[in-house]
Amino acid sequence: MNCHINPKRVLGSIDPKIYGHFLEHFHRQIYGGVFDPTSPFADDDGLRTDVIEALRAIRVPILRWPGGCFVSSYNWKKAVGPVRTPVYDKAWRVEDPNTFGTDEFIRLCRKIGCEPYICTNAGTGTAEEMSDWVEYCNLEHEGEYARLRIANGHPEPYNVKYWSIGNENYGFWEIGAKKSGEWSHFVTESAKMMRHVDPGLQLSAASLDDPDWNLKLLQQAGDQLRWLSIHDYWDTIHEVYKPASYEGAMGLTALLDSKIRKIRGTLTMLGLADRIKIAFDEWNLRSWHHPNIHRNLEAGTSRELYVTPRDRNDTNSTYTTADSVFAACFLNTCIRNCDMVKMANFAPAVNTTGVLFTHANGIVRRSTYYVFLLLANLMGNQAVDLWTEDAPVETINGTQIPLLDLTAAMRTRDGALTISAANKHDCLPQELVLQLGCHEGTRAVLHCVTGESRDAYNDIDREQVSIHTQALPMERGTLRLTLPPHSANLIEILCD
Ligand code: AHR
Repeated sequence: MNCHINPKRVLGSIDPKIYGHFLEHFHRQIYGGVFDPTSPFADDDGLRTDVIEALRAIRVPILRWPGGCFVSSYNWKKAVGPVRTPVYDKAWRVEDPNTFGTDEFIRLCRKIGCEPYICTNAGTGTAEEMSDWVEYCNLEHEGEYARLRIANGHPEPYNVKYWSIGNENYGFWEIGAKKSGEWSHFVTESAKMMRHVDPGLQLSAASLDDPDWNLKLLQQAGDQLRWLSIHDYWDTIHEVYKPASYEGAMGLTALLDSKIRKIRGTLTMLGLADRIKIAFDEWNLRSWHHPNIHRNLEAGTSRELYVTPRDRNDTNSTYTTADSVFAACFLNTCIRNCDMVKMANFAPAVNTTGVLFTHANGIVRRSTYYVFLLLANLMGNQAVDLWTEDAPVETINGTQIPLLDLTAAMRTRDGALTISAANKHDCLPQELVLQLGCHEGTRAVLHCVTGESRDAYNDIDREQVSIHTQALPMERGTLRLTLPPHSANLIEILCD
């Protein structure tokens, strides 16, 4: 396939927040994940240093917490201070020890070196509780909650800039779900009270690709919002319990920009596209194993039916090159829409379906980890124009799927031209000819995430998927290369 790049035609700035992550109080993401005081890897704050080091290596820019469905009945006030009372988590129907709360989360973010992004309880919560939380985090010393933070040993405000009002409150499964008219009024009043405490907040609100939901929300609360929060999981394991095959996962790449296009249309129609951006703040190819939870259970339903199956998320053989190729295609979609998508959060970061899996003797870097390791560190920051000729396609489940997914970006720090290129084919390499336009690159390097087969995966004491790096011979202005099958690639054209 011929691919033409125009390094002079800049499409937009790529916000590093598209490489963000999410952690929820679900299964082993927090307890046994990032926070495990009994672990030999734990520091004095009970945080796993091996996890922190791995998250720093992929330059996590922002971390969303504490949910997700969990947050819609969460009382943040019970998880601060010297005495923590365990609570019953009504979303996931297990006890939460409450030993990881706001102060521990901020400490985690400081150690990772990322922005905290707090999602508030718009289910059972109130505007007052949300604004109290902002007081606790952002006021110097005025009022009850800033004083409480100081009394808890944290004299300096946390200055949390990113806040979300609610999580999926549109869904029947969410505690405290609301109708669209109710929602837009609730968001308006909550945003007003939160911004009375700190006018500088960047607020998002739970939204959908449903114009009716968003129109009411934006017409009433649009002047208070900077973000619309959307979520997507394309392989719906929580409903079908069986992970999609490699082909099935590649077929799902046809749906990657569906929600982005619809929301772009609504924001553009309302003249808000310059001020309000998309926070795709939960995404993953695979949704999470938690069967039988989103329906009201019959009396006598055993925990084995809805808690034990969550352990299946720990099956590392699930996360193959399908996950790494899909993640590369999703991040390319964010790059193609970099004027609109300014934040995205992989759901989640640690355990469940995350980039990392923790165990007693260390961590496993799953295939998706290496996609973040490449793009968050090496992909340029100015998306530039790229077009292709004779692009190969394959029909999967009746849909024509482009086999190659590419984006290009200039890296302003050193003038390198970078290309993110995914080859979705499950067994055939794909020849690529890059016409580099006016770029004066003199040296090319290919970094490739792949494994021996499409079903390769990483597990304890087993690494089948990793990064392979090689120098590429260059002609003036043209680069010919072969992309291995089932691979996510980052190509650097360097100016020495
Ligand atoms: O499966 C996890 C859930 O997915 C999150 O808690 C929620 O935000 C989304 O529906």
